Amino acid sequence: MKKRIFSGMQPTGQLHLGNYLGALRNWVKLQKDYECFYGVMDLHAITLPQDPKTLARNTRETAAAFYAAGIDPSQCAVYPQSAVLEHTYLQWLLANHTPLGWLNRMTQFKEKSAGIHKSFIKNIKPISDLSGEEKERINQKIQELEPFMKIVVDGGSIIDVEANLGLFAYPVLMAADILIYKATHVPVGEDQKQHLELSRDVAGAFNRHYGVEYFPIPEPQILGEAARVMSLRDGTKKMSKSDESDYSRINLTDDADAIKKKFQKAKTDPLPCPSAVEEFKQRPEIENLFTIYAALADKSAKDVVAEFSGKQLSAFKNALADLAIARLEPITKRMRELMQDEAEIDRLINKSLERARALAAKHLAEVKDIIGLWRG
Ligand code: TRP
Repeated sequence: MKKRIFSGMQPTGQLHLGNYLGALRNWVKLQKDYECFYGVMDLHAITLPQDPKTLARNTRETAAAFYAAGIDPSQCAVYPQSAVLEHTYLQWLLANHTPLGWLNRMTQFKEKSAGIHKSFIKNIKPISDLSGEEKERINQKIQELEPFMKIVVDGGSIIDVEANLGLFAYPVLMAADILIYKATHVPVGEDQKQHLELSRDVAGAFNRHYGVEYFPIPEPQILGEAARVMSLRDGTKKMSKSDESDYSRINLTDDADAIKKKFQKAKTDPLPCPSAVEEFKQRPEIENLFTIYAALADKSAKDVVAEFSGKQLSAFKNALADLAIARLEPITKRMRELMQDEAEIDRLINKSLERARALAAKHLAEVKDIIGLWRG
């Protein structure tokens, strides 16, 4: 069987170097050897509150980043998940092969609820005891979240936040995303491995029940070292769009000046360049910058350390800034152009959307026949 890739990314907006080196760059490489489907997962995004205008903008921005990074829409399908209705239909069919215990073992929905709970609880005090400003912040948050999840209050304090069905069933939709195209390989990061494992189990259960080998069991695609890019201000935190400081990240819309400044101002220690990768353990910021350099240069971190050993950090930072600009400028330039031209993004999306729709419809019809559902 021809190898087919599916992967997706949520439309969070403000894409950065971490998204590029951690995922997009690998996706671009895969398009040569595989038939690829890449989704902007807007249906997954709405498991948490989203502002409708922002969501629509972020969905276009994420698709734009795929194209700017080099994904070719005449070779691969790139489109918003919500544009292919078969994903959600198949989710229902697969839900019947997903015991609740499997979903209960998933850690991400618990972490997400716990994260929301934590964001409330800078203050464990009963809400009525809070100062005016803090009280207003908490009440606003409650208003935003209450239609989404249960906020459990006891003695006037928020003691828990319970996930909704969407967040709980999120991995079943993910299984449907993959299986609707009968994808054989799925490039995912560490945080999505558990969900992919569930997709494999669900595919197996469906096949066993109907006595078919219809769905391929999708394999995780681990590509070399997917660089884990950390904040430029704190080498122990992931680079993130939600960090308050813009100096913590390289955005995929930053121009050459911004990229240069951010690398020059990146937090480091007063020591010179490392002479061995073993030093990384004590120097997380240095590890991060050398990992970024290695990823951009397509070299191993060890070789980059050897190259700069004995030199001043400032010289390394300048070299890193130059390399980053050379590699990223075509991407960030294209990204800025596309963001000015919504019609062009939509044209690119429409170019591959029909291909995705046609394959998804063909597979769904086959699955309906297997189950004995009405096809008219
Ligand atoms: N859940 C993934 C994430 O947040 C995105 C995603 C949705 C996905 N469906 C997928 C990734 C299917 C791979 C395959 O990163």
